[in-house]
Amino acid sequence: MQKVRKAVIPAAGLGTRFLPATKAMAKEMMPVVDTPSIQFVVEEAIRSGITQILIVTGKGKNAIEDHFDSNFSLENNLLEKGKDALLEKVKHTTIPSIHYVRQAYPKGLGDAILQAEIFVGNEPFVVLLGDDIMPDEVPLTKQLIDIYEKQGKGSVATIEIPTEKTNRFGLVDLGEKVEQNLHTIQHLVEKPAPEVAPSNLGIIGRYLLTPEIFDILKNQQPDAGNEIQLTDALETLNQVAPLLAYEYKGTRFDVGDKYGMLVANIELGLSHAETADKMHDYIKELAKELKGSKV
Ligand code: G1P
Repeated sequence: MQKVRKAVIPAAGLGTRFLPATKAMAKEMMPVVDTPSIQFVVEEAIRSGITQILIVTGKGKNAIEDHFDSNFSLENNLLEKGKDALLEKVKHTTIPSIHYVRQAYPKGLGDAILQAEIFVGNEPFVVLLGDDIMPDEVPLTKQLIDIYEKQGKGSVATIEIPTEKTNRFGLVDLGEKVEQNLHTIQHLVEKPAPEVAPSNLGIIGRYLLTPEIFDILKNQQPDAGNEIQLTDALETLNQVAPLLAYEYKGTRFDVGDKYGMLVANIELGLSHAETADKMHDYIKELAKELKGSKV
């Protein structure tokens, strides 16, 4: 069995849900407390044993490359001022081995993954979407790699979602149970309306895929919005190389919209050494003020 060494992180989205913040800034650089959201995802890949990372970027995303590069003058400045802890933090984000490729047109997630074909070659690989942050000790990506090593199959991570939100996720229609929280898949459908949704298991942003996906993506018809959907290609992949659905039970922050981003900042702010105490006090006070009020 081939070892899973490679990760693809799509980061070409326009970030319209955060406008105007993302007018001149990559949405992946939006911070959760003091850490750009994409750094959580890169670190999850590394903690899962991934050694080669490709980020699929696009126009206006240069800050991502700068973030994972060294910053010589900043490092010198921190060194001269004896700010060792900050210097360590800055150096920790210098990961020169990350590769980059651009998606020229916003043609959907499937098209973004297609840009990774040469990087991936003929190996299994993981895909991590930056809108989902999973801060658990055993990374979800590692769990998908363990499943691949045991079952020899690719997989998608899912969670139970409320029925009214089916049109925001790719959904899976489960087949047989393989193990606790692990099933075969009958069908995958991208963002169905609640009335026609085959289940309430939504795909979250972690996938373990095999390279057959690339030829499928090349032949995939765009959807009504002229985007090539990864989920549509997975429906075909599932016929030739059956996939598994893994139901994730851990913590997840959806930083893909304003509300989720605020929740992630509050929750992680409550556990950050520099902010935890003040945040606890503030939230307790706020809760008292809000009690009984509908505002
Ligand atoms: C994408 C996928 C969708 C998946 C979701 C997870 O949608 O197309 O199948 O459920 O990510 O976050 P997006 O959120 O990019 O619209």
